[in-house]
Amino acid sequence: MNPLFSQLAAARRRLRDSHGRAITDLRVSVTDRCNFRCVYCRTGNEGAQFAELAHADYLRMIRLFVSLGVEKIRLTGGEPLLRAGLLDLVREVASLRTVCTATPQPLDLALTTNGHLLAGMAQPLKDAGLTRITVSMDAVDPETFSRITRVPRSFDRVLAGIRAATDAGLGPVKVNCVLLRGFNDGQIEAFAEFSRRENVIVRFIEWMPLEEASTGEHARKWTKEAVVTLDEIVERLDRYAPAGLGSSGLIELPPNASSETARRYTFADGVGEIGIIAPVSRPFCGHCSRVRLTSDGKIRTCLFSQTDHDLAGRMVRGATDAELSAYIRQVVDRKEARHHIGEPGFEKPSRSMVHIGG
Ligand code: 5AD
Ligand code: SF4
Repeated sequence: MNPLFSQLAAARRRLRDSHGRAITDLRVSVTDRCNFRCVYCRTGNEGAQFAELAHADYLRMIRLFVSLGVEKIRLTGGEPLLRAGLLDLVREVASLRTVCTATPQPLDLALTTNGHLLAGMAQPLKDAGLTRITVSMDAVDPETFSRITRVPRSFDRVLAGIRAATDAGLGPVKVNCVLLRGFNDGQIEAFAEFSRRENVIVRFIEWMPLEEASTGEHARKWTKEAVVTLDEIVERLDRYAPAGLGSSGLIELPPNASSETARRYTFADGVGEIGIIAPVSRPFCGHCSRVRLTSDGKIRTCLFSQTDHDLAGRMVRGATDAELSAYIRQVVDRKEARHHIGEPGFEKPSRSMVHIGG
């Protein structure tokens, strides 16, 4: 077939929802177990609540999404590094190729981890074909870090993981930080120094109402007031003069891509990068390109969905690839227009973050 024609045909196959958004980004949770109990996420009273599938099942579902134009895959959890056999899955996914580009390209294959087991896994992950890594790290001060994760001496291991990932060629590593007012918002400037010193991209994420029902020591319940907003973070960092630089002032960087969710900044000397992801104060639902697959194989079209769609169940019952693709299209078509955080009548989603997959 004429290559241009086949490319047009492929572009027509691309997943789209009824709001006109192209869906190019799939996040796959491979377990809802986690070895941390971050105060804003997990109560710690509950372990895994949902099943894990065989890697072959995730792979089949990922293949289907890729055949429908998905180009970015992010493996998440829970904590994905707890999942045995993960490297084999990474290797298989890395061998898939995009279908809607002029020539087939490798996927953008990323992983989000809490970093606890990363030091020993970074090089093997790189060798297996991982292209990018994001480490969740909510403090650069070891004591605050342990208070958040509720795991003693966790900071040093995560730091070693970040450095191992950089050394393995997975840099620049993204470091995600969720700020909670009165808890770790004193760390904003220290994170800026951390970005400059460790050559990582620090991304502050506004806290969303996605926590498990809150109990236990330091457990946090979402309120609007507890969210540290983009404006506040920018104002703080704009006044800040990094060590050795002598002058303050943030410089805004252009977005990386049209589906970029972060506003990006650097300092006067161009050293360090800060991203701010502001789903609460500046929702970006209008250009959301994501859907999620939970560890038990259900499609979630929004973090704040009230229902899941059982793709794995259909697979187990013997559906063909064509039937599963048709089902994916039908589910994605009905993706929610936007979230309703902070509005009257907001309903909590049917799962908390640890059971959805970041
Ligand atoms: N709001 C924003 N981000 C969250 N994460 C977990 N819970 C929330 C929340 N309620 C982040 C983690 C990690 C990623 C998987 O999602 O800190 O960076
Ligand atoms: Fe685990 Fe991430 Fe939730 Fe922390 S935020 S408890 S690391 S899933």
